[in-house]
Amino acid sequence: MNSTSHRLSLAPMLDLTDKHFRNLCRIMSKEMLLYTELTTTGAIIYGKNDYLAYEDIEHPIALQLGGSNINDLIICAKKGEEYGYDEINLNVGCPSDRVQNGSFGAILMRTPALVCDMVKSLKDNVGIPVTVKMRLGVDELDSYEYIHNFIANLAKANVDEITLHARMAFLKTMSPKENRDKPPLNYERVYKLKEDFKNLPISINGNINSLDEALAHLQHVDGVMIGRALYHNPYMLIDADELIFNHPAQKHKLTRKEVIRAFYPYIEEHLAKGGLLKHISRHLLGMFTNIPNARAFRQYIAQNHYKDNAGIEVIENALVLIDED
Ligand SMILES: Cc1cc2nc3c(=O)[nH]c(=O)nc-3n(C[C@H](O)[C@H](O)[C@H](O)COP(=O)(O)O)c2cc1C
Repeated sequence: MNSTSHRLSLAPMLDLTDKHFRNLCRIMSKEMLLYTELTTTGAIIYGKNDYLAYEDIEHPIALQLGGSNINDLIICAKKGEEYGYDEINLNVGCPSDRVQNGSFGAILMRTPALVCDMVKSLKDNVGIPVTVKMRLGVDELDSYEYIHNFIANLAKANVDEITLHARMAFLKTMSPKENRDKPPLNYERVYKLKEDFKNLPISINGNINSLDEALAHLQHVDGVMIGRALYHNPYMLIDADELIFNHPAQKHKLTRKEVIRAFYPYIEEHLAKGGLLKHISRHLLGMFTNIPNARAFRQYIAQNHYKDNAGIEVIENALVLIDED
């Protein structure tokens, strides 16, 4: 994996950052690191589907695993490595009930020793980087000292990188949904941690809304991970390789419509295999954010993409509603 790809990454988001959305992102940025959705060890080991499938073009791509049983994590990480993933990422930040009951996600913020054992075991068993996505703390465990010691131990376990969602998780008092927005952001604490751990790559995450904001964070940390803002306005990625990865300016920057049309071969292949249009077209709804008639575009797709035999023409007809080329 290119050692700078983590300068910008797509956050793992269940139900959103599936391989269709990731393929759309890749048309606009060749460099950014893409994360899969949280994939549980149970799904990988016992599930009927191939949860690890992705396209070559998605590299660099990190597989995010959720689990608490070390042997299961090892099995899944090895499988991920066989599939050619560039990185294994451990989820230590997800606050959903389902995840808590499975005893992984943010609840693991309470058990640093276990998380360090996981990282050590994964490092012993795979040759690709092992990284952790975590919060700044959980419930009453909210001191700087707590997160500092946690990270110091992860560093000793040879973790390759840490992504910090720059807020606490309040599992006792807030719903999973509230936990995404309500705990206050504390970017300063992430910057301080980076100062304390100069040799450990640290990425920052949480309510970062533009590439300009990302550049400002990159003055303090090694990488920026963006989730919702990218999902709701993916076209911002068109400038990512130039602004974040210092590529030379493109002679011709693809327009929004050109990006969507460049996605057609991928969509056609999906349809040819019996896939449904709506599974991909739902990810296009944010492509015209802040552009006149974006609403008409979204409505047309929403009203037509679920119909039997819906094909590329649904998207073409929706594009006609937008004046911009
Ligand atoms: C719909 C949704 C699903 C998410 N699923 C995951 C997940 O699978 N794994 C994970 O580590 N975080 C998950 N998150 C958290 C995001 O990765 C990210 O940490 C959070 O949204 C904050 O970043 P943002 O403000 O840039 O979106 C999810 C967030 C949302 C909104």
